[in-house]
Amino acid sequence: MAEKLWGGRFSLSTHKLAEEFNASINFDRKLYRFDIKGSIAHVEMLAKQRIIVEDEARQIKDGLEKIEAEIEEGDFEFRDEDEDIHMAIEKRLHELIGPVAGKLHTARSRNDQVATDFRMYLRERVDEISECLRELMQVIVDKSREKIDVVMPGYTHLQTAQPVLFSQYAMAYFQMFKRDFLRFKDFRERMNECPLGAGALAGTTFDIDRDYTAERLGFDKPTSNSLDSVSDRDFALEFLSAASICGMHLSRISEEMVIFSSAEFAFLDLPDDFCTGSSIMPQKKNPDMPELIRGKTGRLYGNMISLFTTLKGLPLAYNKDMQEDKEPVFDSVETLISSLRIFTEMFAKMKLNEKKMAKAAGGGFSTATDLADYLVRKGMPFREAHNVVGKTVAYALSKNKGLEDLEMEEFRQFSRVIEGDIFEYVVVAKSVDSRKAKGGTAKSSVLQQIKEAEEFLT
Ligand code: ARG
Repeated sequence: MAEKLWGGRFSLSTHKLAEEFNASINFDRKLYRFDIKGSIAHVEMLAKQRIIVEDEARQIKDGLEKIEAEIEEGDFEFRDEDEDIHMAIEKRLHELIGPVAGKLHTARSRNDQVATDFRMYLRERVDEISECLRELMQVIVDKSREKIDVVMPGYTHLQTAQPVLFSQYAMAYFQMFKRDFLRFKDFRERMNECPLGAGALAGTTFDIDRDYTAERLGFDKPTSNSLDSVSDRDFALEFLSAASICGMHLSRISEEMVIFSSAEFAFLDLPDDFCTGSSIMPQKKNPDMPELIRGKTGRLYGNMISLFTTLKGLPLAYNKDMQEDKEPVFDSVETLISSLRIFTEMFAKMKLNEKKMAKAAGGGFSTATDLADYLVRKGMPFREAHNVVGKTVAYALSKNKGLEDLEMEEFRQFSRVIEGDIFEYVVVAKSVDSRKAKGGTAKSSVLQQIKEAEEFLT
């Protein structure tokens, strides 16, 4: 039993099956850099507090640095029997520097250690995600500025509703990704407290300096309660939730990329290098990237539900169930980063079929609301105007015409208040540009949104 770091009280060595089942080293090895950084800060603090002597701290630190280099160069052997990354590193430290390695774990437990490592890992990856979101927002803003005169149909129920600027459409997604960005920022601030020093659950009998280690590791301050420190995984849940919401946004815009690039819509052409062909149908260009991004949202949700379920009803403080926190988080980090990167580049490179969009913008009686508003301006109550326009649309449909194709006399069968100026109101450009109120689709309003977005990004 001597080979296990905790083997003292055991009379049987761990069953092979139990050992395999218990081991997290195959995935938590990702934490090695944070584990070593945390250990170095911890020994420096122990020396500063005279809990160990300077020379011991130096030997431990040198050993840890050597281990880091070994892992980076692929010279480190990861073994199931070492259980997790924390044990594997400490065991190797024993091999390298002998019994003094045993002093590293003074005033510390794996429970506060893993909570610290995991927060450091997530903090770093969230910064990467925020950078990806920033790039995506920038691409959306640039495209919106460049394509400010392109019109398209706006939909409700996926039925033509009212014409909008393409930029108004794109800037809707800017708002969603901005909220995602702020959500990540918000929980990152909340999670930036250091659990190191909470010990196994109750704190420690040694005179440690938690402010020192917190600061050395880039945290704003130490956590406040030892039981909470080792049992809290709210930060992981907040991350998985924010990632799910962001994935949901990506899935919605991806779905539209799939629909809008179909032959029936043909509003846009996705870049060839982000599409694939069919092994049997030579004409095909399949939008695999937006489809996959849409699909991967399922994993993000699954990971979130998985950890919520793991934590439900867990008593304080640490329980081994909590080792199940890492894989969902690792997977959501990689999934979200790759989805964001791919989407950003694809969106930047896609081509708009501006003529097709403009034509569709005028179809489906998209200016019917403008005709109703026209009647209201002439003094008719809106509900009556709605009815008059409904009848006009039914008539135009029966004649296979659009509103703009109707003759003056045809209009006037439905209301005598309609006059020659009606033709200005049923055209797409006028419809779009008259929605000038803040947040509307008029060019002036969209340019204002773009300006505010650019200010946000600088
Ligand atoms: N591998 C463990 C985890 O990820 C580390 C903490 C182990 N603590 C313990 N008391 N067994 O949760």
